[in-house]
Amino acid sequence: MKNRTEPIWTTIDEKIRYPIYIGTDIIPDFGSTFKEHLPRCSQALLVTNQTIEEVHAAKIAQISESLEDIGVDLIVEAIPEGERTKSYWGLGMLYDFFAEHQLDRQSVIIAMGGGVIGDLAGFAASTFLRGISLVHIPTTLIAQADSSLGGKVAINLARLKNIVGGFYHPKMIFMDVSFLQTLNVRELRAGLAEVVKYGVIMDSELFNYIEANVENIIAKDPDVLEWLVRRCCEHKIAVVEEDPEERTDRRAILNYGHTIGHALESLYHRYLHGEAVSVGMVAASYLAVKTEIFPSADAERQLKLLSRIGLPTDALGVSIDPLLQPMLHDKKRRGNTLRFVLPTKIGDITIKEVPKKDLPDLLQYLVEKGVFSPSEDATDEE
Ligand SMILES: NC(=O)c1ccc[n+]([C@@H]2O[C@H](COP(=O)([O-])OP(=O)(O)OC[C@H]3O[C@@H](n4cnc5c(N)ncnc54)[C@H](O)[C@@H]3O)[C@@H](O)[C@H]2O)c1
Ligand SMILES: [Zn+2]
Repeated sequence: MKNRTEPIWTTIDEKIRYPIYIGTDIIPDFGSTFKEHLPRCSQALLVTNQTIEEVHAAKIAQISESLEDIGVDLIVEAIPEGERTKSYWGLGMLYDFFAEHQLDRQSVIIAMGGGVIGDLAGFAASTFLRGISLVHIPTTLIAQADSSLGGKVAINLARLKNIVGGFYHPKMIFMDVSFLQTLNVRELRAGLAEVVKYGVIMDSELFNYIEANVENIIAKDPDVLEWLVRRCCEHKIAVVEEDPEERTDRRAILNYGHTIGHALESLYHRYLHGEAVSVGMVAASYLAVKTEIFPSADAERQLKLLSRIGLPTDALGVSIDPLLQPMLHDKKRRGNTLRFVLPTKIGDITIKEVPKKDLPDLLQYLVEKGVFSPSEDATDEE
């Protein structure tokens, strides 16, 4: 096992290479690690949200003290929580903070939070002064296992997820798995959807491990969580290094479950990202069964695991009609076809082009399988 003193390094190109520290209760070492990688910085602004600021006041104080020890002033700004801040509104708020505190090119933004803070503060850092240094301290399972890695930063437009963004890599990622101890169980489960995703797309051993450890994971066994986070990071890094900007199908495999998941999430705000991805993975697995590339026994195995975790495996009450529009806007579309990431067995996937005109029929199959309803009986709570 690696420990904090031995980070995993990720190399994007000749210019971009950075360490990922993973451990449990490693926050006291933040300052000394920061100094190693950002020796010229004297001012840092930590962006978090109001919930995390309250729940993790002690850890923020440790970060501040450890930075003070190396001569770095820390400013903390907390913004309202929730996906709605990943917007023009939230972005404007951050730019105003950055300007107010007179950040310069030597300043560093520390994004401490889940995927929302990471994506938003990352996007703000990438554009302010044409880019200032960024450090991630991910605090949710989604952020540790997935979103803080890979350099994607973005905001949403009204109903379009992650539609404005870029690629911007941090100078380091500092993952303290003990943050997950305060995560509520619904958020933990949502994060596990992404972990199961890695199992299905590339690692049957990981899938088996989750099957064998569902109870320990939900009980937040620290060793089990650290093992899972590390394993997912290793996979994400490997994929991103091969295809940093999603120019080939290599990185696109990470979008398994996300075509339908994003559509669901953008229309029905009651779904957390991971919950929508869970339904999206069930849907994708049935599409793979329907196109005869995936054994139905494997689809049932995935469904059983997601349901044991406590994730939604259907979206009854939602009909397929409203989902079509956002799916046709999906970033993975190409001309008249949509590209679906479909499993071929637990641990392997393929990318299948589906002509747009075939989409309604294909989605109808998901109604037959009980994933969606024939007609809408729920309205958006927006
Ligand atoms: N950039 C990428 O590659 C990528 C990948 C996957 C997901 N995402 C994005 O990530 C977002 C979802 O991320 P998320 O699930 O982390 O959501 P989130 O950032 O909204 O965090 C979820 C909730 O957990 C709370 N929280 C965070 N850390 C906590 C802690 N340690 N203890 C207690 N509560 C805590 C937050 O306040 C929030 O209410 C979506 O916007 C999604 O699009 C991005
Ligand atoms: Zn995701």
